[in-house]
Amino acid sequence: MMLFGALLSVLLTSLHSVRAQYPAPGACSGDCFTHDPAVVKRADGKYFRFSTLDLIGIWTADNLAGPWTRSGSVIQGASIINIPGNDVLWAPDVVYMRGMYYCFYSVSVSSSQTSAIGYAVSTTMESGSWSDQGAVVTSTSSSPYNAIDSNVVNGTAEDEFYIQWGSYWNNIYQARVAIDGEYVFRSGNEHQIAYEPSGNHQEEGAFIWKRDTTWYLFLSKGICCTYDPATDPIDQVYHIAVCKSDSPAGPFVDKDGVACTDGGGTTVLASQGNTYAPGGQGVFTDDAYGDVLYYHYLDLTVGVDYNDSKFGWNVITWVDGWPTVS
Ligand SMILES: *[C@@H]1O[C@H](CO)[C@@H](O)[C@H](O)[C@H]1NC(C)=O
Ligand SMILES: *[C@@H]1O[C@H](CO)[C@@H](O)[C@H](O)[C@H]1NC(C)=O
Repeated sequence: MMLFGALLSVLLTSLHSVRAQYPAPGACSGDCFTHDPAVVKRADGKYFRFSTLDLIGIWTADNLAGPWTRSGSVIQGASIINIPGNDVLWAPDVVYMRGMYYCFYSVSVSSSQTSAIGYAVSTTMESGSWSDQGAVVTSTSSSPYNAIDSNVVNGTAEDEFYIQWGSYWNNIYQARVAIDGEYVFRSGNEHQIAYEPSGNHQEEGAFIWKRDTTWYLFLSKGICCTYDPATDPIDQVYHIAVCKSDSPAGPFVDKDGVACTDGGGTTVLASQGNTYAPGGQGVFTDDAYGDVLYYHYLDLTVGVDYNDSKFGWNVITWVDGWPTVS
């Protein structure tokens, strides 16, 4: 009986360790390089995917699974925001409102708080159609936050919009913005909506998704961008977590009731098998697939260099009011 029990527990342990907790990333063919992707489907069915680097590179496809083709950049030459990094640009967020696409982008260099969130507008999203409008949020070495990694979401009323941003330092902040044609400007004071108190506050990439009367705050937590899978603790590399609130301005709490301002965040997707360090996420509703979580990740069979970073996506299944990937 003892022996049987021991065998059973070995068997159960090994079963548990091989059972996949998350599905594999959805298929991607063609040019799948991405980092901090933003995905928008245009009314004619064409998909646009935007990425960090290359002045916000643009890729297009007729299906989310590809084949994806590189098709220019949002900004030509350099951003009009005159700080270091304005010829690179990071972390796009693209939203459609009242007939106009707004592409929010980040200007910075690694480990610097001299940063800005700028934006450009277009009615088509095609390369060459974007008009650069300059900065909405900026930061310096005396700011509590780093003004990168932005996202804009609708509130409850017609003209109620929020921008969230932040990376490391005191993590994620939010402020009201007003949007009028090609103009976007801050219309309220900022407040902190998420904070990871431990370590050096490895939390960034906030993205808020409104579903019915609930706002979901998705975050990228953990070590980003430079990896050694042999020594990095697997539970400490980039992964995607979520908190929710019945108000766009929070407070946001995770499934266990832990506040996102106190290190909370329920894991939605993390490293598993050959899928490594997923993050830089966003959500959109695709008439072909439903609600989709998209992100970048590394494939351990390919490599963990920055340029190995690849587009991943999974359909969201909502379980008891929480997003899960399926
Ligand atoms: C957000 O609000 C704008 C302006 O009212 C509207 O055009 C847009 O469709 C809304 N977006 C979503 C996702 O509801
Ligand atoms: C990675 O890609 C970027 C952008 O295409 C390029 O500038 C850079 O040289 C590449 N780095 C490596 C190590 O290949």
